[in-house]
Amino acid sequence: SLLRLKDLEVAELGDSDVHVKRLAAPINPADINMIQGTYPILSPLPAVGGSEGVGEVLEVGRCVTALKPGDWVIPASAGLGECVPRHPRHRWTPARRPVRCAATLSVNPCTAYRMLADFEALAPGDSVIQNAANSGVGQAVIQIAKASGIKTINVVRDRPDLSKLVERLMALGADHVVTEEMLRKPEMKDVFKSIPKPRLALNCVGGKSTTEMLRHLQPKGTMVTYGGMAKQPVMVPVSAFIFRDVRLRGFWVTQWRKDHAQGE
Ligand SMILES: NC(=O)c1ccc[n+]([C@@H]2O[C@H](COP(=O)([O-])OP(=O)(O)OC[C@H]3O[C@@H](n4cnc5c(N)ncnc54)[C@H](OP(=O)(O)O)[C@@H]3O)[C@@H](O)[C@H]2O)c1
Repeated sequence: SLLRLKDLEVAELGDSDVHVKRLAAPINPADINMIQGTYPILSPLPAVGGSEGVGEVLEVGRCVTALKPGDWVIPASAGLGECVPRHPRHRWTPARRPVRCAATLSVNPCTAYRMLADFEALAPGDSVIQNAANSGVGQAVIQIAKASGIKTINVVRDRPDLSKLVERLMALGADHVVTEEMLRKPEMKDVFKSIPKPRLALNCVGGKSTTEMLRHLQPKGTMVTYGGMAKQPVMVPVSAFIFRDVRLRGFWVTQWRKDHAQGE
């Protein structure tokens, strides 16, 4: 089979090495795509799966000064199995972060933050619409937008316990939670009585969901695609380009990190 559980010998500690014990690691959709071979990062095999997590430094080589045993570290970049701190800012102490937040900090919240900051100059009172709003990224978008005074319209798939999900997202700071089907209904007008039409749409799904979200985007607004959970192409009516001049962009946090490796 493709995946195997295997015990590995811990390598002997070199002068510049750090031994890190993993405390927690999530499984991201991108980790699965890497295993499927459909992701742009493919490590030489055999490789260890997973790209995020938090670890505790157990031991440091004698040339290592930036870290000490007991420090918490997160991976410097995405890639199969990597947990190698390369920058002093990746140091944390256990007292500062709950383990689950630390383990999931480096991908989804950073993606949410950059997408809110980099594509439209949003001011308090502006609004953003997003699909897959209950995803890891979506929940981070809700919280960061709330802290910045930006209103969110959150699209989720319908389900038997929808009211519980709506309650949970509202508790995080969502302004509106609607289902994919509701996007097509005239009642959507009520949403825009209290908040302006969004200038930014965040697309994690593709297919029909994109088309429906675009209906509500302001003219000259931007839709940023960062995920393709429905495994369907983004569908945009010609009229959205001609009569509303919408802009379609994409975002990949791994590329952003490479592009900003020196500065931010
Ligand atoms: N471009 C980047 O830099 C970047 C960074 C981070 C994440 N991502 C991507 O963003 C996506 C979400 O990642 P995550 O870690 O936030 O995921 P997650 O927490 O596992 O959430 C997955 C989300 O996708 C929805 N979903 C699954 N299948 C769907 C379908 N067929 N149609 C519509 N919605 C569907 C789920 O909704 P239900 O609850 O209804 O199933 C849920 O909201 C992934 O594609 C990931 O690779 C991209």
